[in-house]
Amino acid sequence: MLLIRNIKELVQVEEKPVRFRAGKEMQNLPRIKDAYLLIDKGKIKDFGPMEKLGEIRADKEIDATGKMVFPCFCDSHTHIVYSGSREIEYIDKIRGLSYEEIAKRGGGILNSCDRLREDSEEALYEAAYARLEEMKSFGTGAAEIKSGYGLDTANELKMLRVIRRLKENSPLTIKANFLGAHAVPREYLGRQTEYVDLIINEMIPMVASEGLADFVDVFCDQGFFTVEDTERILMAGIKHGLRPKIHANEMARSGGIQVGVKYHALSVDHIEYTGDEEIAALKGSDTMPTILPGAAFFLNMPYAPARKIIEAGLPVAMASDYNPGSSPSGNMQLVLSMACVNYRMVAEEAINATTLNTAYAMDCADTLGSIAKGKTANVFITKPIPSIEFMPYAYGSNKVETVILNGEVQ
Ligand code: NIG
Ligand code: FE
Repeated sequence: MLLIRNIKELVQVEEKPVRFRAGKEMQNLPRIKDAYLLIDKGKIKDFGPMEKLGEIRADKEIDATGKMVFPCFCDSHTHIVYSGSREIEYIDKIRGLSYEEIAKRGGGILNSCDRLREDSEEALYEAAYARLEEMKSFGTGAAEIKSGYGLDTANELKMLRVIRRLKENSPLTIKANFLGAHAVPREYLGRQTEYVDLIINEMIPMVASEGLADFVDVFCDQGFFTVEDTERILMAGIKHGLRPKIHANEMARSGGIQVGVKYHALSVDHIEYTGDEEIAALKGSDTMPTILPGAAFFLNMPYAPARKIIEAGLPVAMASDYNPGSSPSGNMQLVLSMACVNYRMVAEEAINATTLNTAYAMDCADTLGSIAKGKTANVFITKPIPSIEFMPYAYGSNKVETVILNGEVQ
């Protein structure tokens, strides 16, 4: 048993867990001042104010005077299995080329695809594991990881096997997402429908038969896959037991949000181009609108209308999108800062967006995303901080001191 005592504030506590927080409720972030937290067998056993702490014999105690305890961040959208880096394109972008122009010149995702095909499973695993460790040091306890740089059957399976090894060996909770429809590979240029056929007839059945993915994803956007391609892929994925998550409306109002909702996607992600029709489609659905602040920041693209979405009564989740092309960072504390500065969210909303709501967006709301009895003990202890607002405010420093995953101090 592990006891953390004298916690300045225990953040995001739930007596009766909810699946996510939406609309005005996003400003609700339940906390207990001067609290304790008791962890047993990898799970949260009990918590409350210090004055209610009875006689407890714990094997280990941590005194958290002046420090806060949060549930770890859930990062529901990443692409951390990749080779090399793409800083040359970053400079091209600064000089004026758009993301789509870079992709058309054979850069972008296809550049990462060339490199990944040459790399061994071992090298990919080592690099991705190191990225997970860095994410953990910033307070992330769970990550969804996508394929999508292989773009042929052998290399997509290679990526998913790397993700399976990460699942087995990393202390983080990991979900695998099959994103064969990330881009049309060079050998299929001009033959997009045939590539979609390959995804449907060969890749999805193999991925499913090896149990390599939890989700299926499509980059449904202008210049990438159409709504029709997306529908075909989602139907095939669903038939094989894969729940959809979609890359939608990053470049244009592409219909990606509506098609996601139609097929009960767990989340629609990016969503920079969201208008009244998209909001109407999301209302009453079970699809989590997910914003990726790092990508919009790094590509210098328009920001998704987070306030408008929240004011419509909807939830918002926020993830890192950690990838070599549009967001080479998995620092969720930075996502908190961007949520506040660029999307005009208050600290409570930003914390809900990166914990409980992202847990929902990666199908982990039952076990992660909040401090609730019986949930997995994935929490971090901060350095001494004055307030929860200090987390997004001090945007350049790592405020996390100790990370505990599955009840184990890391
Ligand atoms: O989520 N938008 C599509 N895919 C990734 C970028 C991948 C890349 O550029 O390598 C994203 O931003
Ligand atoms: Fe992405």
